[in-house]
Amino acid sequence: MSADDPTQEVSSLVAAGIERIAGSATSEEVRAIHAELLGKRSRLAELKAGMRDMDPQDRKDLGAELNRTRIELERAVDARIAELASEERRVLLAAERLDLTEFQGHVDPGHVHLVTQTWERLEDVFVGMGFTVATGPEVETDWFNFEALNLPPSHPARSLWDTLYLDTSDLPGVGDQQLLLRTHTSPVQVRTMLRSVREGDGPPIYVVCPGRTYRQDTADATHLPVFHQIEMLVVDRGITMGDLAGTIETFTKAYFGAELTSRLRPSYFPFTEPSAEVDISQPDGSWLEVGGCGMVHPNVLAACGLDPEEWSGFAFGFGIERLAKIRHGLGDIRDLITNDMRFLEQF
Ligand code: PHE
Repeated sequence: MSADDPTQEVSSLVAAGIERIAGSATSEEVRAIHAELLGKRSRLAELKAGMRDMDPQDRKDLGAELNRTRIELERAVDARIAELASEERRVLLAAERLDLTEFQGHVDPGHVHLVTQTWERLEDVFVGMGFTVATGPEVETDWFNFEALNLPPSHPARSLWDTLYLDTSDLPGVGDQQLLLRTHTSPVQVRTMLRSVREGDGPPIYVVCPGRTYRQDTADATHLPVFHQIEMLVVDRGITMGDLAGTIETFTKAYFGAELTSRLRPSYFPFTEPSAEVDISQPDGSWLEVGGCGMVHPNVLAACGLDPEEWSGFAFGFGIERLAKIRHGLGDIRDLITNDMRFLEQF
């Protein structure tokens, strides 16, 4: 830098200033450097003041250089301040950020309960066989749960279902209808047949009805007071017991595998005639009962508005927990509801 060449000195002073501005950390620092360079007692002010003693050409050159560098300096100041502001905003945003992904990978997201898995698999199998899924309420009237199913009030077979009745005496609007927690999914059959008549031309009906059911029962290794059933109903022309047996066998192989087989044992249900218990063969050669089935009783068809001379059908109802027990070799069915993670995590 030479004191003899003020133009040169201005440009190097400003260049050094611009360099400091670029390296400054805050906008206050930038402004301070700016003021220091151009302030009243600055070297630039001094040089500017010396202009009046210069010859015209030098004065003109210096004036032009002062102008040029002032603009350059202002640009550098503005640019650095904008840069610092966006940096400050970035730091602020980073500090205020809520990291909602923080727990990812640390918390087990859980999985679907074995009963639900079984329910869904069963639906898949039946839908694959061409059935549709129907559901109904868990609180039922006596008529849907029993009477329409050929179980009039005094029927002795009612005691086969340990029913939980609801006390509705102080519930306005219920009237004298007896409400209960459904003891099986069979009332959904009734609802489906009635709906098919009410909303369409009646059968054919090919449905499965999965859902929660209730009995006044003490839990033991093979029973739960709250459990699940899946019920199948077919109503069409010319349906026979052979269709029932074939459907159950097809289902058995689709759900359990080709090596297992089913058998029907004569039994009694008021809503089917003839009726049978369904057993599934075990790998050890024994048989396990999974539910009941039969040809829909003519009284049931009639109660649902279908002519038993024209239509016939079959129904069967399985316990979902029991199917899970067979398929997964469970020991005690109560393990399904005690929330022991060591048990649940196996499925
Ligand atoms: N609803 C009967 C029960 O829960 C099972 C069943 C369904 C039997 C359909 C025959 C036909 O015990």
